[in-house]
Amino acid sequence: MNWTEKYRPKSLKDVIGNKKAKEELLKWAREWQRGNPSKKAVILYGKPGVGKTTSAYALANDFKWEVIEMNASDERNREAIMRIALTGAINETLGIDGVYRSSKEGARRLIILDEADNLYEKAGDFGGKRAIIETIKKTKQPIVLIANDYYELIKGVGQELKNLCKAIEFKKVSKTEIVALLKRICQLEGIEADIALLDAIATRCDGDVRSAINDLQSLAYQKKLTKDMASYLGYRDREREIFMALRRILKSKDMRTAIREAWRLDESPDNLILWIDENIPAEYKRADDLAKAYEFLSRADVFLGRTWRRQYYGLWSYATELMTGGVAVAKKGEYRGFTAYHFPKWLRSMAYSRQYRQVRLNLAKKIGKFMHCSSKKALDFIPALQKICENNDDFAARIAIKLELSLEELAFLVGDKANEIYKEAEALKKKEKQSLLFNFK
Ligand SMILES: Nc1ncnc2c1ncn2[C@@H]1O[C@H](COP(=O)(O)OP(=O)(O)O)[C@@H](O)[C@H]1O
Ligand SMILES: [Mg+2]
Repeated sequence: MNWTEKYRPKSLKDVIGNKKAKEELLKWAREWQRGNPSKKAVILYGKPGVGKTTSAYALANDFKWEVIEMNASDERNREAIMRIALTGAINETLGIDGVYRSSKEGARRLIILDEADNLYEKAGDFGGKRAIIETIKKTKQPIVLIANDYYELIKGVGQELKNLCKAIEFKKVSKTEIVALLKRICQLEGIEADIALLDAIATRCDGDVRSAINDLQSLAYQKKLTKDMASYLGYRDREREIFMALRRILKSKDMRTAIREAWRLDESPDNLILWIDENIPAEYKRADDLAKAYEFLSRADVFLGRTWRRQYYGLWSYATELMTGGVAVAKKGEYRGFTAYHFPKWLRSMAYSRQYRQVRLNLAKKIGKFMHCSSKKALDFIPALQKICENNDDFAARIAIKLELSLEELAFLVGDKANEIYKEAEALKKKEKQSLLFNFK
């Protein structure tokens, strides 16, 4: 289960940070309870992951109010909301459970509209802000609007909201409070975590509690968390996902587990092999394990090569099985303990993940156009080009100019040297332009 859900505070008093915002929210709710709210709606706004949605629901829970989620993009829902919003006048309100509650007892319904700043795109002008404004004007029930961007909400048609609503800002949550929360979660999960690690998590999340909890959970596949695990945090989700899979592949001694991880990961085999190649030495300490692992890897590589040459993609699965299952069983015993893995050097210079495939495709398109062949066919030329570029920077620079390659596409061909060669290409282009200027008659 996702820890952000598991540890979502049920009561406002458990929401950390934002003392002032919580007080204002409480004050407003008490006004409603007494039946004389100064504003009928509040806008909770601020960065993601600081507790806006949580606070709205926690408030309802604390006051024993029923929550009605409002969804502006749904027409039927909108009518139902209108009806509910308008029927608060009578003393008795019928709950969703069919039981009457007296509104004198404060049995209100809290109408919550989350992501209110995205309204326009979702529902258009009519279903969007206009409808909200009308609802707020007439409502007999408290309304909470939630937005990341206050100004997006009150711009244009939304201007009226400024006067109709009480705006409450949710600020970033302080590092100390986040560390304390993480510590508490660790205790509840029976995890022993180095305080320096929690500190690093809290620093990195920059006031975003949701990210902090997610980061913690992503590292907590073992009961003892050390401070060097912070090196995992620098990566985006996709990269982290790959690291996690890599860990399970390289730690496992069981072929099927390793192969299943590869399937789950859904990464192209020619990427995956780079990751595995880069990280086998980090994990495998015994020389004979290493040698055997690389044997499997090179066989996988042969299959990959055939896949491309023959355009026979059935071979892909063999390659994948060899590089994961094969490498996993290549070791005699398990390697315990934490290993910090590395990003493949070859890929380091470019933004990774999905972009990788896109870049390769774009590159193939450009090559195809130049060589008058399909981009699928052009994929075949890439390894050859890579080989030539490896030892010939000048050639690489000229290719970059001829094909009008972006830096990323160039990086695909030349790896770590891309920046350098790109600059060289730029200089070359300039020079050619100048000579063109002087040469024309
Ligand atoms: N102030 C907070 N106190 C405790 N947990 C929080 C806080 N803010 C966020 N969280 C955690 O992050 C998750 C997402 O928070 P949420 O309220 O949806 O953020 P927002 O609506 O501001 O983007 C919650 O389920 C909870 O686990
Ligand atoms: Mg939210």
